[in-house]
Amino acid sequence: MPERVLLVEDRESLRGLLSRALVAGRLEVVAVGDAETAAERLREEPFAVVVSDVRLPGADGASVLRLARGLPTPPEVVLMTAYAEVPAAVSALREGAYDYLAKPFEPEELLRVVRRAAERFALVGRARELEALLDDREGGLIGRAPSMGNVRRLIERVAPLTVPVLLRGESGTGKEVAARELHRLSARGPFVAVNCGAIPENLLESELFGVAKGAFTGAGGDRVGLIEAASGGTLFLDEIGELPLALQVKLNRVLEEGELRRVGETTVRPMLARVIAATHRDLEAAVRDGKFRADLYFRLKVVQIELPPLRERLDDLPLLAGRFLRHAAARYGARARALSPEALAALEGWAWPGNVRELRHALEHAAVMSEDEVIGPLSLPPELRREGLPVAETPTYRDAVERAELAAGRQYLTRLMQQHQGNVSRAAPEAGVERETLHRLLRRHGVDPSQFRGGA
Ligand SMILES: Nc1ncnc2c1ncn2[C@@H]1O[C@H](COP(=O)(O)OP(=O)(O)OP(=O)(O)O)[C@@H](O)[C@H]1O
Ligand SMILES: [Mg+2]
Repeated sequence: MPERVLLVEDRESLRGLLSRALVAGRLEVVAVGDAETAAERLREEPFAVVVSDVRLPGADGASVLRLARGLPTPPEVVLMTAYAEVPAAVSALREGAYDYLAKPFEPEELLRVVRRAAERFALVGRARELEALLDDREGGLIGRAPSMGNVRRLIERVAPLTVPVLLRGESGTGKEVAARELHRLSARGPFVAVNCGAIPENLLESELFGVAKGAFTGAGGDRVGLIEAASGGTLFLDEIGELPLALQVKLNRVLEEGELRRVGETTVRPMLARVIAATHRDLEAAVRDGKFRADLYFRLKVVQIELPPLRERLDDLPLLAGRFLRHAAARYGARARALSPEALAALEGWAWPGNVRELRHALEHAAVMSEDEVIGPLSLPPELRREGLPVAETPTYRDAVERAELAAGRQYLTRLMQQHQGNVSRAAPEAGVERETLHRLLRRHGVDPSQFRGGA
């Protein structure tokens, strides 16, 4: 399939000349004369490359660029400029243009640039396909840290069984994502989620168990409860720690006997839902304090899966960030697609009390705020921008050691780069690591070797 190119040039003679050059280069060309028509075509058909004049009647090339880069499958954009407009072209590069050509140029030069842009478009597309494949394989639960591998293995092992599962972990660590993953892999019917903390206590019983006709004034007709609604599928009891004691007793009985009764009814019905419960609370303490029934606790925790806090798997940051940025681009048309090393270092220096949820919001914020394709530290939420923040009020031993290691590493690498004027290949033997490793360390510590080049 030939690569499709959209050419936007208002001067008819030039448009014809360039079209012919591109067609002679075996590219499929659609040529239009203004930004508005270009916008229409872009919204209707896929293109690999857009070649646009910067100065156009009405809207200019920059608006074509912005529209193109905001598309779900963004084409690469090459701008054509008069000599005087070069500064505008340079700022367009920062906004994600692939390249620019200063007029006058030879048609062959255009062809060369467009071919390279088309190649890049194809590469980006293939990378995106691979990412989508990986996304599928990992399900909704992203993470390659060893602790996440354990979580995933456990989920795969117990998903097909009917045993209850208790998901533990701090707020935002992905308990609900894990619950849905368990359900997805169990090949069962409906997924019914109940937030035990969000439904008023006096309504919760009838919501869960259902109501028989005329059970109490205003009860109306029979109503199926959520437990029954989940029959053949999964009942997800979120925030199980908030379940009132009286209902804990009833739920425990249902699980024990495998039967339930609607409120105000004598008929027993079979309990056919698999139960997954989640909480960020310390259930053991709740049991000690008499706030959570020990019998229910033991019944639920037969299989317990602990979602690790994000600060203990910072290696997953780039992976998670990539997914959330792609998401922000698709959902809000955000332009940002990557993190600068400095921004990544800032993320690595934060304690993430809100875990993956907090990361997701921080990156959505950054993606929307960033004017560039690459997010710098200044686009991050303010609390992340400062370095050297305490990890937590009283950091764990591991956190404290890790922070000290990071700080020492940054100091060492800065001095190393000063000594070698930013030459990573020359510095690597002295540091006793491979060049690639040194590059990785520099990125991780937010040390940019190019700052040490050029005499300074
Ligand atoms: N491992 C993960 N991979 C991808 N996204 C994740 C992961 N963990 C969490 N998220 C995302 O973070 C957000 C919070 O996740 P989730 O609702 O599952 O957290 P939770 O543990 O249930 O938190 P809470 O205790 O506050 O209810 C969601 O947007 C979810 O998509
Ligand atoms: Mg939750």
